[in-house]
Amino acid sequence: MKADLIIYNIGELVTFHNGPLARVSEDNAVIIRDAGVAVRDGVIVAVGKSRDVKSRFEGEALNAQGLLATPGLVDPHTHLVFAGSREDEFNLKLQGVSYSEILARGGGIYRTVKATLEASFEDLLSKAIETASLMLNHGTTTVEVKSGYALSLEGELKMLKVAKALGEASSITVIPTLLAHVPPREYRESSFEYARYFAEVIVPTVSKENLAAYIDVFCDRGAFNVDESRIIIEAGLKHGLKARMHADQLAYIGCSKLAEELPIDSLDHLEKMPEENARILAERGVTAVLTPTSIMAMMEPKKPPVEALRKAGVVIAIASDYNPNNMTPLQQTAMDIAPYILNLTPLEALAAATINAARSLNIHHKLGSISEGYKADIVLWDLENYKWIGYTWGYNKALLVVKDGKIVRGKT
Ligand code: NIG
Ligand code: FE
Repeated sequence: MKADLIIYNIGELVTFHNGPLARVSEDNAVIIRDAGVAVRDGVIVAVGKSRDVKSRFEGEALNAQGLLATPGLVDPHTHLVFAGSREDEFNLKLQGVSYSEILARGGGIYRTVKATLEASFEDLLSKAIETASLMLNHGTTTVEVKSGYALSLEGELKMLKVAKALGEASSITVIPTLLAHVPPREYRESSFEYARYFAEVIVPTVSKENLAAYIDVFCDRGAFNVDESRIIIEAGLKHGLKARMHADQLAYIGCSKLAEELPIDSLDHLEKMPEENARILAERGVTAVLTPTSIMAMMEPKKPPVEALRKAGVVIAIASDYNPNNMTPLQQTAMDIAPYILNLTPLEALAAATINAARSLNIHHKLGSISEGYKADIVLWDLENYKWIGYTWGYNKALLVVKDGKIVRGKT
């Protein structure tokens, strides 16, 4: 049979076939030693032992030299489109000024809003393309991209159009999200009014223009409260978007409990979530999207209740949460430090950055796994086996990246 690409002599191929996984272990992973993969029309047509795949298929053959192969990484939470930087706030945080305090003073997100509104469409797009190429080179083949640094109809539309143009210009797959980030400063005393405007004007327009797959709200102290978040999420659902939510990152004000009422695909951050709420996520099939590099960038000691999430059987994903407060766009780094920050095993970290991340975006039927019928998004790592994930880190270990069956990094 004909194939466009055959990757053979893979030392160890590690993936997860059985859909989204809670309680990840070698028993529910697919680990094939001396493996091969065949690709046709951008889709995986065979996965198995190297010699079997090689004997069944003809086409361009690539020797993986005994390296580790995994699915391309899926990054399910980024603020990839923005302008400017906030390096002086990095210094403030080091001196003990909290993220919340910086935001309340009109810095943080508000500063990035100003810079983003001042930037042209072309500037935002060229910076986004540059970042996406860095991501691809480090193994990220799918990325969720949020709006949220404009706080007006026109501005949020511009950001989402940049995200759309990024998807067209780059080979990375972009999943766009409309984010209600914070109420504008002039609505400080009337944030419910802004939430209503967001729900009644911004959401329907974005949906009509087909610019987002998801609605997201930063539900937290200093951003939107539970009642405001509810009407925004409900508006998104009513207009055909799926829902995800920033929850319990800075303080617990009841945000994760909203998942009891509304169908929400993912709750992200969860540093301040009470352990007993893990049950809600498990019962409602919500993916917990944890953000290890962003936890570091917050410079506050609190971490999400990983053990309670595990015990309750919650599907755990991780994300880079790339934003100007957390200036690293690499899901590879998030995966590598997840064992240190979140106590995930290397196998849990891999599932969290691939199939479970895809599940949080409801794309796990075609992305996030090396299985027949899936998009051919594959990374060859400069590692012997998956146990090296996180064990060695701080440099780029993605040697070869295949996206939709095409080699976008490395050479044959
Ligand atoms: O996911 N917490 C809200 N949003 C971002 C931070 C955005 C920013 O500080 O610019 C996050 O961490
Ligand atoms: Fe975020």
